[in-house]
Amino acid sequence: MKSKRRDRSIEEEQREERSELLSIVLVLSIFSTGLGHGLVNEASGGFNETCKDAVGDVTCYGAIGDGETDDSEAFLKAWKALCEVEAASDIPMLVVPMEKEFLLKPVTFEGPCKSDSVQVQVLGTILAPNTTEGWTNCYANTWLGFWNVSNLIVNGSGEINGSGSIWWKNFSIQALRFYNCSNLQHSGLTHLDSPRNHISIIFCDNATLYHLNISAPESSPNTDGVDISSSTNVSIHDSYIGTGDDCIAVNDKTTGINITRIVCGPGHGISVGSLGANGAYATVEEVYVNNCSFNGTLNGARIKTWQGGSGYARNIIFEQVTLVDVQNPIIIDQFYCNGKQDCQNETSSVQVSNVTYIGIEGTCVGLDAITFNCDEIMCTNITMKHINITSSDPEKSVVASCKNAEGNSECTIPEVPCLTIDECDNQK
Ligand SMILES: *[C@@H]1O[C@H](CO)[C@@H](O)[C@H](O)[C@H]1NC(C)=O
Ligand SMILES: *[C@@H]1O[C@H](CO)[C@@H](O)[C@H](O)[C@H]1NC(C)=O
Ligand SMILES: *[C@@H]1O[C@H](CO)[C@@H](O)[C@H](O)[C@H]1NC(C)=O
Ligand SMILES: *[C@@H]1O[C@H](CO)[C@@H](O)[C@H](O)[C@H]1NC(C)=O
Ligand SMILES: *[C@@H]1O[C@H](CO)[C@@H](O)[C@H](O)[C@H]1NC(C)=O
Ligand SMILES: *[C@@H]1O[C@H](CO)[C@@H](O)[C@H](O)[C@H]1NC(C)=O
Ligand SMILES: *[C@@H]1O[C@H](CO)[C@@H](O)[C@H](O)[C@H]1NC(C)=O
Ligand SMILES: *[C@@H]1O[C@H](CO)[C@@H](O)[C@H](O)[C@H]1NC(C)=O
Ligand SMILES: *[C@@H]1O[C@H](CO)[C@@H](O)[C@H](O)[C@H]1NC(C)=O
Ligand SMILES: *[C@@H]1O[C@H](CO)[C@@H](O)[C@H](O)[C@H]1NC(C)=O
Ligand SMILES: *[C@@H]1O[C@H](CO)[C@@H](O)[C@H](O)[C@H]1NC(C)=O
Ligand SMILES: *[C@@H]1O[C@H](CO)[C@@H](O)[C@H](O)[C@H]1NC(C)=O
Repeated sequence: MKSKRRDRSIEEEQREERSELLSIVLVLSIFSTGLGHGLVNEASGGFNETCKDAVGDVTCYGAIGDGETDDSEAFLKAWKALCEVEAASDIPMLVVPMEKEFLLKPVTFEGPCKSDSVQVQVLGTILAPNTTEGWTNCYANTWLGFWNVSNLIVNGSGEINGSGSIWWKNFSIQALRFYNCSNLQHSGLTHLDSPRNHISIIFCDNATLYHLNISAPESSPNTDGVDISSSTNVSIHDSYIGTGDDCIAVNDKTTGINITRIVCGPGHGISVGSLGANGAYATVEEVYVNNCSFNGTLNGARIKTWQGGSGYARNIIFEQVTLVDVQNPIIIDQFYCNGKQDCQNETSSVQVSNVTYIGIEGTCVGLDAITFNCDEIMCTNITMKHINITSSDPEKSVVASCKNAEGNSECTIPEVPCLTIDECDNQK
C-alpha cells in the first residue's frame, strides 16, 4: 500500500518532466562537448566514451549500481570532481543513471563547490544498507548529507530508498539532509521508507522543493516527510507525502515558509512545531499553508508547543484545506507531550498569535473537529472564516473546544465557543 499510490496530477507532471529531461540532457551534452568538463551524452548508457573527461556519471567513478556493491566511495569521488569544476557556462552536473540501484552507506557531500551552482540528477535508485552494520560512521545521524552547498540542484525522476524498516523498532537516522544551503532546488524524486525523517532542511535560505513523492507506511515511527528548522524562505509545493508522522513539520527559527498543493496522508498532518521542548526559546513566523488536502491523517492543521518554552509562533495562515476522514482537523495544543503523560505544567510557553484559518472543509473521523487547548498566556488573534467540518459518520456530529483562545470567527461550523462570532456573509 505504500509508495505506489500517487496523486494522479503529480504523476502526470512528472511523466512530462521525464520526457522534457531527456531532451535537456541531450541539449546540454551537445552544448558541452567542447568544454573540458563534459557532461554525459545520455541519461543512461552511452557514457563510456565521455568518461575520460566527464564529471558526468557516477559510473565513470567506479559506481556499479547492482544494488549490492557499496558505491559510497565512487559517489564521493564523483562528488569531489563535480565540486572541483570551475564555474562553466552551464551548470556542472552529476548523473545517477536510471535502471540502476546504487547502494550507499552514510555519505557526506561537502561544499562549498568551485562552481557557483552544481546539479545532481538522480534518475536511478539510491539504496540504503539493509543491515544495521552498514550504517556505521553515520555523520550527524544522517544517511545522505549535503553540507555547505549553495545553488544546489538535486532533481530527476529517481528514487531514494532508505530501507528504513530495520530501524523502525529502534531509534534511528534521517535519510536526506540539506544543511547550510542557499537557493536549493530539489524536485521530482520519490523518497521511500526513511529510517527517520525523509528530508531535513536546516540553516537554509530560499529553498524550493516540489514534485516530490514521499512515502512510508502509516505505522512507521518518526518518519516525517519534510522537517524545516533554522531556515528562511522555504517553499514546498505540488507533492504527495504519506508517512507515519508529520507530512511537514515547521520547526524552530523559521520564517517565510510556503506550503502549497500538498496531498498529505497517511500521517500526522502539517505541523508547526513541536516548539519549546526542554524550556527552549523558539520562533516561527510567516507560515502560509494553502491548497492542501489531508486524507486519513491523525491531524490536519496543527500547532504544538511544550510547556515551559518561550518565544512565539505567529502570523500563520492555513487556507483552502480539504479534509477526508481526519482525526483532529484543526488543533492548537500548548500542552504537547509527545504522547507521554508525564509533562508538568509550567508558567511559560511559546506564545501562539495571529493564526488564520480560511476555507477549510471536509470530514472528521473523531469528535473533535476544532481544538484550541491553550494555557493562561492565551492564543491570541485567531481568525476563522468559512470553515465547515462535519463528521465522516452522517449519524454523528462534531464539536469545537476552546480554552484560553481569543479572536473572531465567521461562517464557521462547528461554532467555536471562545471566539467572537461575526455575522456570516457567505458572499464574502
Ligand atoms: C539485503 O541486501 C542484500 C544485498 O545488498 C540482499 O542480498 C539481501 O537479500 C537483503 N536482505 C534483506 C532482508 O532484504
Ligand atoms: C560547513 O561549514 C561550516 C562553516 O564553514 C564548517 O564549520 C563545517 O565543518 C562544514 N561542514 C561540513 C560537513 O563540511
Ligand atoms: C533540474 O533542474 C534544472 C534547473 O532548474 C532544470 O533545468 C531541469 O529541467 C531539472 N530537471 C528535472 C528532471 O526536473
Ligand atoms: C527498498 O529497499 C528494500 C531493500 O532494502 C526493498 O526490500 C524494498 O522493496 C525497496 N522498496 C521499494 C519500494 O523498492
Ligand atoms: C535495535 O537495537 C538493539 C540495541 O541497540 C540491537 O540489539 C538490535 O539488533 C537492533 N535491532 C535491529 C532490528 O537492528
Ligand atoms: C531563490 O532561488 C531560486 C532558485 O531556486 C533563484 O532563481 C532565485 O533567484 C533565488 N532568490 C533569491 C532572492 O536569491
Ligand atoms: C509565498 O507565497 C506568497 C503568495 O503566493 C508570496 O507572496 C511569497 O513571496 C511566497 N513566499 C515564499 C517564501 O516563497
Ligand atoms: C483517501 O485515501 C483512501 C485510502 O488510501 C483512498 O481510497 C481515497 O480515494 C482517498 N480519497 C481522496 C478524496 O483522495
Ligand atoms: C498577521 O499575520 C498576517 C499573515 O501572515 C500578516 O500579514 C500580518 O501582518 C500579521 N499581523 C501582524 C500585526 O503582525
Ligand atoms: C496541565 O493543564 C492542562 C490544562 O489546564 C490540563 O489539562 C492538564 O491535566 C495539566 N497537566 C498536569 C500534569 O497538571
Ligand atoms: C489579527 O489577524 C488579522 C487577520 O489575519 C490580521 O490582519 C491582523 O494584523 C492581526 N492582528 C494582530 C495584532 O496580530
Ligand atoms: C457543510 O458541509 C456539509 C457536508 O458537505 C453540507 O451538507 C452543508 O450544507 C455544509 N454547510 C454549509 C453552511 O456550507
